[in-house]
Amino acid sequence: MSGFQAFQGKQVLITGGVGFIGSNVARRLAAIGARVTLADSLIPLYGGNLFNIDDLRDRLTLNVTDVRDPFAMAYLVQGKDYLFNLAGQTSHLDSMTDPRTDLDINAAAQLSILEACRLHNPGVKIVFASTRQLYGKPEYLPVDEAHPIRPVDVNGINKLAGEWYHLLYNNVYGIRACALRLTNTYGPGMRVKDARQTFLGIWLRNVIEGKPVLVFGDGKQLRDFNYVDDVVEALLLAALDSRADGQVFNLGSREVVSLVKLAQMLTELQPGARFEIVPFPAERKAIDIGDYYGNYDKIEAVLGWQPRVDLPQGLAATLAYYGKHRGRYWDNA
Ligand SMILES: NC(=O)c1ccc[n+]([C@@H]2O[C@H](COP(=O)([O-])OP(=O)(O)OC[C@H]3O[C@@H](n4cnc5c(N)ncnc54)[C@H](O)[C@@H]3O)[C@@H](O)[C@H]2O)c1
Repeated sequence: MSGFQAFQGKQVLITGGVGFIGSNVARRLAAIGARVTLADSLIPLYGGNLFNIDDLRDRLTLNVTDVRDPFAMAYLVQGKDYLFNLAGQTSHLDSMTDPRTDLDINAAAQLSILEACRLHNPGVKIVFASTRQLYGKPEYLPVDEAHPIRPVDVNGINKLAGEWYHLLYNNVYGIRACALRLTNTYGPGMRVKDARQTFLGIWLRNVIEGKPVLVFGDGKQLRDFNYVDDVVEALLLAALDSRADGQVFNLGSREVVSLVKLAQMLTELQPGARFEIVPFPAERKAIDIGDYYGNYDKIEAVLGWQPRVDLPQGLAATLAYYGKHRGRYWDNA
Protein backbone atom coordinates (compact mmCIF):
# COMPACT_ATOMS: atom_id res chain seq x y z
CA MET A 1 0.00 0.00 0.00
CA SER A 2 1.67 3.20 -1.18
CA GLY A 3 0.52 5.27 1.84
CA PHE A 4 3.04 3.44 3.97
CA GLN A 5 5.82 5.53 2.40
CA ALA A 6 5.01 7.91 5.26
CA PHE A 7 7.21 5.66 7.43
CA GLN A 8 10.27 6.40 5.32
CA GLY A 9 13.00 7.93 7.49
CA LYS A 10 10.80 7.76 10.59
CA GLN A 11 12.11 6.47 13.91
CA VAL A 12 10.19 3.41 14.99
CA LEU A 13 10.48 1.36 18.18
CA ILE A 14 9.04 -2.15 18.21
CA THR A 15 8.83 -3.86 21.59
CA GLY A 16 8.81 -7.63 21.20
CA GLY A 17 10.47 -7.00 17.84
CA VAL A 18 12.30 -10.33 17.69
CA GLY A 19 9.01 -12.19 18.15
CA PHE A 20 6.60 -13.37 15.50
CA ILE A 21 4.51 -10.30 14.70
CA GLY A 22 7.17 -7.76 15.72
CA SER A 23 9.76 -9.16 13.32
CA ASN A 24 7.25 -9.09 10.48
CA VAL A 25 6.44 -5.45 11.27
CA ALA A 26 10.18 -4.74 11.33
CA ARG A 27 10.71 -6.37 7.92
CA ARG A 28 7.94 -4.34 6.34
CA LEU A 29 9.13 -1.07 7.87
CA ALA A 30 12.79 -1.68 7.02
CA ALA A 31 11.76 -2.27 3.40
CA ILE A 32 10.02 1.12 3.39
CA GLY A 33 13.13 2.81 4.79
CA ALA A 34 12.05 3.45 8.39
CA ARG A 35 14.75 3.61 11.07
CA VAL A 36 13.78 0.63 13.16
CA THR A 37 14.83 -0.19 16.73
CA LEU A 38 13.76 -3.42 18.39
CA ALA A 39 13.45 -3.88 22.15
CA ASP A 40 13.24 -7.53 23.11
CA SER A 41 14.30 -9.48 26.18
CA LEU A 42 14.87 -12.75 24.29
CA ILE A 43 13.70 -14.71 27.33
CA PRO A 44 14.22 -18.28 26.05
CA LEU A 45 10.79 -19.50 27.13
CA TYR A 46 9.04 -16.84 25.04
CA GLY A 47 8.49 -16.40 21.32
CA GLY A 48 11.56 -14.35 20.36
CA ASN A 49 13.94 -16.00 17.88
CA LEU A 50 16.93 -14.18 16.40
CA PHE A 51 16.45 -16.05 13.15
CA ASN A 52 13.24 -14.04 12.71
CA ILE A 53 15.41 -11.00 11.97
CA ASP A 54 18.38 -12.78 10.38
CA ASP A 55 17.78 -11.09 7.02
CA LEU A 56 17.39 -7.66 8.66
CA ARG A 57 20.33 -7.39 11.03
CA ASP A 58 22.14 -4.68 9.08
CA ARG A 59 18.95 -2.66 8.62
CA LEU A 60 17.87 -2.22 12.22
CA THR A 61 19.09 -1.73 15.77
CA LEU A 62 18.46 -4.46 18.30
CA ASN A 63 18.36 -3.56 21.97
CA VAL A 64 18.19 -6.66 24.14
CA THR A 65 16.26 -5.34 27.08
CA ASP A 66 13.22 -6.07 29.17
CA VAL A 67 10.13 -3.87 28.99
CA ARG A 68 9.94 -4.27 32.78
CA ASP A 69 13.07 -2.08 33.02
CA PRO A 70 11.67 1.48 33.25
CA PHE A 71 15.09 3.09 32.78
CA ALA A 72 15.76 1.23 29.55
CA MET A 73 12.31 2.11 28.27
CA ALA A 74 12.70 5.77 29.23
CA TYR A 75 15.82 5.87 27.08
CA LEU A 76 14.40 3.87 24.18
CA VAL A 77 11.18 5.82 23.62
CA GLN A 78 13.05 9.08 23.14
CA GLY A 79 13.08 10.48 19.62
CA LYS A 80 10.71 7.84 18.25
CA ASP A 81 7.86 8.78 15.93
CA TYR A 82 6.03 5.47 16.31
CA LEU A 83 5.93 2.73 18.92
CA PHE A 84 4.55 -0.68 18.03
CA ASN A 85 4.05 -2.14 21.46
CA LEU A 86 4.03 -5.89 20.93
CA ALA A 87 6.15 -7.35 23.76
CA GLY A 88 4.11 -9.74 25.82
CA GLN A 89 3.86 -12.90 27.80
CA THR A 90 1.59 -14.70 25.37
CA SER A 91 0.91 -18.08 26.95
CA HIS A 92 -2.56 -18.43 28.45
CA LEU A 93 -1.54 -21.57 30.31
CA ASP A 94 1.58 -19.93 31.77
CA SER A 95 -0.54 -16.99 32.95
CA MET A 96 -2.45 -19.44 35.12
CA THR A 97 0.62 -21.12 36.63
CA ASP A 98 2.69 -17.91 36.97
CA PRO A 99 0.13 -15.09 37.13
CA ARG A 100 2.50 -12.57 38.66
CA THR A 101 4.93 -12.61 35.74
CA ASP A 102 2.04 -12.13 33.36
CA LEU A 103 0.88 -9.16 35.43
CA ASP A 104 4.36 -7.62 35.46
CA ILE A 105 4.86 -7.87 31.70
CA ASN A 106 1.37 -7.41 30.30
CA ALA A 107 0.10 -4.77 32.72
CA ALA A 108 2.73 -3.14 34.99
CA ALA A 109 5.39 -2.81 32.28
CA GLN A 110 2.80 -1.31 29.92
CA LEU A 111 2.17 1.39 32.45
CA SER A 112 5.91 2.11 32.71
CA ILE A 113 6.20 2.33 28.92
CA LEU A 114 3.36 4.84 28.83
CA GLU A 115 4.90 6.82 31.69
CA ALA A 116 8.18 6.86 29.76
CA CYS A 117 6.30 8.29 26.78
CA ARG A 118 4.48 10.86 28.91
CA LEU A 119 7.71 12.09 30.48
CA HIS A 120 10.12 11.79 27.56
CA ASN A 121 8.19 11.65 24.29
CA PRO A 122 4.51 12.62 24.49
CA GLY A 123 4.41 13.15 20.72
CA VAL A 124 4.89 9.48 19.90
CA LYS A 125 2.07 7.45 18.30
CA ILE A 126 1.53 4.04 19.90
CA VAL A 127 -0.17 0.95 18.51
CA PHE A 128 -0.76 -1.76 21.11
CA ALA A 129 -1.29 -5.45 20.29
CA SER A 130 -4.30 -6.48 22.32
CA THR A 131 -6.19 -9.74 22.05
CA ARG A 132 -9.63 -11.20 21.42
CA GLN A 133 -9.00 -13.31 24.53
CA LEU A 134 -10.38 -10.55 26.71
CA TYR A 135 -13.93 -11.20 25.44
CA GLY A 136 -13.85 -14.66 27.01
CA LYS A 137 -16.54 -17.13 26.00
CA PRO A 138 -18.66 -15.36 23.36
CA GLU A 139 -22.26 -14.47 24.14
CA TYR A 140 -22.95 -13.92 20.46
CA LEU A 141 -21.14 -14.32 17.18
CA PRO A 142 -19.46 -12.67 15.43
CA VAL A 143 -18.00 -10.81 18.40
CA ASP A 144 -17.85 -7.06 17.90
CA GLU A 145 -16.10 -4.43 20.02
CA ALA A 146 -19.30 -3.84 22.05
CA HIS A 147 -19.35 -7.44 23.27
CA PRO A 148 -19.01 -7.80 27.07
CA ILE A 149 -15.49 -8.22 28.37
CA ARG A 150 -15.15 -11.38 30.44
CA PRO A 151 -11.63 -12.79 30.35
CA VAL A 152 -11.37 -16.47 31.20
CA ASP A 153 -7.70 -16.42 32.16
CA VAL A 154 -5.17 -14.20 33.90
CA ASN A 155 -3.58 -13.25 30.59
CA GLY A 156 -6.87 -11.83 29.33
CA ILE A 157 -7.25 -9.67 32.44
CA ASN A 158 -3.72 -8.31 32.25
CA LYS A 159 -3.92 -7.65 28.51
CA LEU A 160 -7.15 -5.75 29.19
CA ALA A 161 -5.36 -3.58 31.73
CA GLY A 162 -2.51 -3.04 29.28
CA GLU A 163 -4.97 -2.05 26.58
CA TRP A 164 -6.85 0.36 28.81
CA TYR A 165 -3.71 2.06 30.08
CA HIS A 166 -3.05 2.95 26.45
CA LEU A 167 -6.56 4.31 25.96
CA LEU A 168 -6.34 6.22 29.23
CA TYR A 169 -3.06 7.87 28.27
CA ASN A 170 -4.63 8.79 24.95
CA ASN A 171 -7.73 10.25 26.57
CA VAL A 172 -6.14 11.98 29.56
CA TYR A 173 -2.68 12.99 28.34
CA GLY A 174 -3.24 13.17 24.59
CA ILE A 175 -0.56 10.57 23.88
CA ARG A 176 -1.95 9.13 20.66
CA ALA A 177 -2.57 5.45 21.22
CA CYS A 178 -4.87 2.73 19.93
CA ALA A 179 -5.25 -1.01 20.31
CA LEU A 180 -5.92 -3.82 17.88
CA ARG A 181 -7.58 -6.89 19.33
CA LEU A 182 -5.81 -9.58 17.37
CA THR A 183 -7.32 -12.98 16.74
CA ASN A 184 -5.30 -16.13 15.97
CA THR A 185 -2.40 -14.94 13.87
CA TYR A 186 -0.19 -17.31 11.92
CA GLY A 187 2.64 -17.21 9.42
CA PRO A 188 6.42 -17.34 9.17
CA GLY A 189 8.07 -16.61 12.52
CA MET A 190 5.21 -17.86 14.68
CA ARG A 191 5.92 -19.96 17.74
CA VAL A 192 6.18 -23.60 16.71
CA LYS A 193 8.60 -24.91 19.32
CA ASP A 194 5.76 -25.73 21.72
CA ALA A 195 2.01 -25.34 22.19
CA ARG A 196 2.26 -22.67 24.88
CA GLN A 197 0.77 -19.91 22.75
CA THR A 198 -1.23 -21.57 20.00
CA PHE A 199 -2.09 -25.08 18.89
CA LEU A 200 -1.54 -24.15 15.25
CA GLY A 201 2.23 -23.82 15.66
CA ILE A 202 2.57 -27.35 16.93
CA TRP A 203 0.17 -28.58 14.25
CA LEU A 204 2.42 -27.12 11.55
CA ARG A 205 5.43 -28.66 13.16
CA ASN A 206 3.78 -32.08 13.42
CA VAL A 207 2.75 -31.96 9.77
CA ILE A 208 6.34 -31.23 8.76
CA GLU A 209 7.70 -33.96 11.05
CA GLY A 210 5.19 -36.51 9.76
CA LYS A 211 3.44 -36.77 13.14
CA PRO A 212 -0.34 -36.68 13.52
CA VAL A 213 -2.05 -33.36 14.20
CA LEU A 214 -4.04 -33.68 17.46
CA VAL A 215 -7.46 -32.02 17.43
CA PHE A 216 -8.90 -31.58 20.95
CA GLY A 217 -12.52 -32.23 21.85
CA ASP A 218 -14.89 -32.83 18.96
CA GLY A 219 -13.01 -30.46 16.68
CA LYS A 220 -16.16 -28.46 15.96
CA GLN A 221 -14.96 -25.28 17.69
CA LEU A 222 -15.05 -22.38 15.23
CA ARG A 223 -12.17 -19.95 14.86
CA ASP A 224 -10.95 -17.16 12.63
CA PHE A 225 -7.34 -16.69 11.58
CA ASN A 226 -5.28 -13.88 10.15
CA TYR A 227 -2.11 -14.30 8.14
CA VAL A 228 0.64 -12.18 9.62
CA ASP A 229 1.04 -9.90 6.57
CA ASP A 230 -2.57 -8.82 7.01
CA VAL A 231 -1.97 -8.09 10.70
CA VAL A 232 1.12 -6.03 9.86
CA GLU A 233 -0.99 -4.05 7.39
CA ALA A 234 -3.57 -3.33 10.11
CA LEU A 235 -0.90 -2.21 12.59
CA LEU A 236 0.66 0.16 10.05
CA LEU A 237 -2.71 1.58 9.00
CA ALA A 238 -3.58 2.23 12.65
CA ALA A 239 -0.25 3.95 13.23
CA LEU A 240 -0.71 6.40 10.38
CA ASP A 241 -4.37 7.28 10.82
CA SER A 242 -5.46 9.78 13.47
CA ARG A 243 -8.99 8.32 13.33
CA ALA A 244 -7.56 5.31 15.17
CA ASP A 245 -6.47 7.35 18.19
CA GLY A 246 -8.21 6.26 21.39
CA GLN A 247 -9.93 3.37 19.60
CA VAL A 248 -9.94 -0.40 19.87
CA PHE A 249 -10.44 -2.47 16.73
CA ASN A 250 -11.08 -6.15 16.26
CA LEU A 251 -9.26 -7.98 13.54
CA GLY A 252 -10.83 -11.08 12.02
CA SER A 253 -11.67 -12.95 8.88
CA ARG A 254 -14.75 -13.83 6.87
CA GLU A 255 -13.24 -17.31 6.58
CA VAL A 256 -14.53 -19.03 9.73
CA VAL A 257 -13.45 -22.66 10.10
CA SER A 258 -13.86 -25.50 12.56
CA LEU A 259 -10.68 -26.97 13.97
CA VAL A 260 -11.34 -30.20 12.11
CA LYS A 261 -11.67 -28.28 8.86
CA LEU A 262 -8.43 -26.46 9.60
CA ALA A 263 -6.67 -29.76 10.33
CA GLN A 264 -8.04 -31.13 7.04
CA MET A 265 -6.79 -28.10 5.11
CA LEU A 266 -3.38 -28.39 6.67
CA THR A 267 -2.96 -32.12 6.16
CA GLU A 268 -4.15 -31.83 2.55
CA LEU A 269 -1.25 -29.49 1.86
CA GLN A 270 1.37 -32.05 2.87
CA PRO A 271 1.38 -35.54 1.35
CA GLY A 272 1.11 -38.23 4.04
CA ALA A 273 0.02 -35.85 6.81
CA ARG A 274 -2.88 -36.90 9.04
CA PHE A 275 -4.88 -35.76 12.06
CA GLU A 276 -6.50 -37.46 15.07
CA ILE A 277 -9.33 -36.30 17.31
CA VAL A 278 -8.38 -36.72 20.99
CA PRO A 279 -9.98 -35.74 24.33
CA PHE A 280 -9.43 -32.17 25.55
CA PRO A 281 -6.61 -31.97 28.17
CA ALA A 282 -8.21 -30.76 31.43
CA GLU A 283 -6.02 -27.66 31.90
CA ARG A 284 -6.87 -26.45 28.41
CA LYS A 285 -10.57 -27.25 28.65
CA ALA A 286 -10.77 -25.06 31.76
CA ILE A 287 -9.81 -21.94 29.79
CA ASP A 288 -11.29 -22.86 26.43
CA ILE A 289 -13.72 -20.30 25.01
CA GLY A 290 -15.74 -22.53 22.68
CA ASP A 291 -16.57 -20.97 19.32
CA TYR A 292 -15.07 -17.58 18.51
CA TYR A 293 -14.99 -15.39 15.46
CA GLY A 294 -14.80 -11.66 15.33
CA ASN A 295 -16.66 -8.88 13.60
CA TYR A 296 -14.10 -6.53 12.05
CA ASP A 297 -16.53 -4.09 10.40
CA LYS A 298 -15.17 -1.20 12.47
CA ILE A 299 -11.58 -1.35 11.24
CA GLU A 300 -12.85 -1.97 7.73
CA ALA A 301 -15.06 1.14 7.89
CA VAL A 302 -12.61 3.44 9.68
CA LEU A 303 -9.23 2.37 8.35
CA GLY A 304 -10.19 0.45 5.21
CA TRP A 305 -8.54 -2.76 6.44
CA GLN A 306 -9.48 -6.17 5.09
CA PRO A 307 -7.63 -9.45 5.31
CA ARG A 308 -6.31 -10.46 1.89
CA VAL A 309 -4.55 -13.79 2.39
CA ASP A 310 -6.88 -16.80 2.60
CA LEU A 311 -6.16 -19.87 4.70
CA PRO A 312 -4.98 -22.26 1.96
CA GLN A 313 -2.59 -19.57 0.68
CA GLY A 314 -1.33 -18.58 4.13
CA LEU A 315 -0.99 -22.13 5.44
CA ALA A 316 0.94 -23.18 2.33
CA ALA A 317 3.34 -20.23 2.74
CA THR A 318 3.82 -21.01 6.42
CA LEU A 319 4.44 -24.71 5.82
CA ALA A 320 6.94 -23.86 3.09
CA TYR A 321 8.77 -21.52 5.47
CA TYR A 322 9.04 -24.02 8.30
CA GLY A 323 9.83 -26.88 5.93
CA LYS A 324 12.86 -24.86 4.85
CA HIS A 325 13.91 -23.37 8.20
CA ARG A 326 12.90 -26.02 10.75
CA GLY A 327 16.49 -26.23 12.02
CA ARG A 328 16.22 -22.61 13.15
CA TYR A 329 12.97 -23.14 15.03
CA TRP A 330 13.14 -26.56 16.60
CA ASP A 331 15.73 -29.09 15.41
CA ASN A 332 18.56 -27.06 16.95
CA ALA A 333 16.53 -24.36 18.62
N1 LIG B 1 0.05 -14.30 17.72
C1 LIG B 1 -1.23 -14.19 18.03
O1 LIG B 1 -2.05 -14.99 17.59
C2 LIG B 1 -1.71 -13.06 18.93
C3 LIG B 1 -3.08 -12.99 19.23
C4 LIG B 1 -3.52 -11.96 20.06
C5 LIG B 1 -2.63 -11.04 20.59
N2 LIG B 1 -1.31 -11.15 20.28
C6 LIG B 1 -0.40 -10.16 20.89
O2 LIG B 1 0.54 -9.69 19.93
C7 LIG B 1 1.79 -9.46 20.56
C8 LIG B 1 2.89 -10.15 19.79
O3 LIG B 1 2.60 -11.55 19.77
P1 LIG B 1 3.51 -12.60 19.00
O4 LIG B 1 2.60 -13.64 18.48
O5 LIG B 1 4.42 -11.90 18.06
O6 LIG B 1 4.31 -13.23 20.21
P2 LIG B 1 5.85 -13.61 20.36
O7 LIG B 1 5.99 -14.36 21.62
O8 LIG B 1 6.37 -14.23 19.10
O9 LIG B 1 6.53 -12.18 20.51
C9 LIG B 1 6.56 -11.49 21.71
C10 LIG B 1 7.96 -10.98 21.90
O10 LIG B 1 7.97 -10.25 23.11
C11 LIG B 1 9.19 -10.52 23.75
N3 LIG B 1 9.03 -10.28 25.17
C12 LIG B 1 8.28 -10.99 26.05
N4 LIG B 1 8.41 -10.48 27.27
C13 LIG B 1 9.24 -9.42 27.16
C14 LIG B 1 9.75 -8.49 28.09
N5 LIG B 1 9.43 -8.58 29.37
N6 LIG B 1 10.57 -7.52 27.63
C15 LIG B 1 10.90 -7.44 26.32
N7 LIG B 1 10.47 -8.32 25.40
C16 LIG B 1 9.64 -9.29 25.83
C17 LIG B 1 9.49 -11.96 23.43
O11 LIG B 1 10.89 -12.25 23.57
C18 LIG B 1 9.00 -12.08 22.01
O12 LIG B 1 10.05 -11.84 21.09
C19 LIG B 1 1.67 -9.94 22.01
O13 LIG B 1 1.51 -8.82 22.84
C20 LIG B 1 0.42 -10.78 22.00
O14 LIG B 1 -0.27 -10.73 23.24
C21 LIG B 1 -0.83 -12.13 19.47
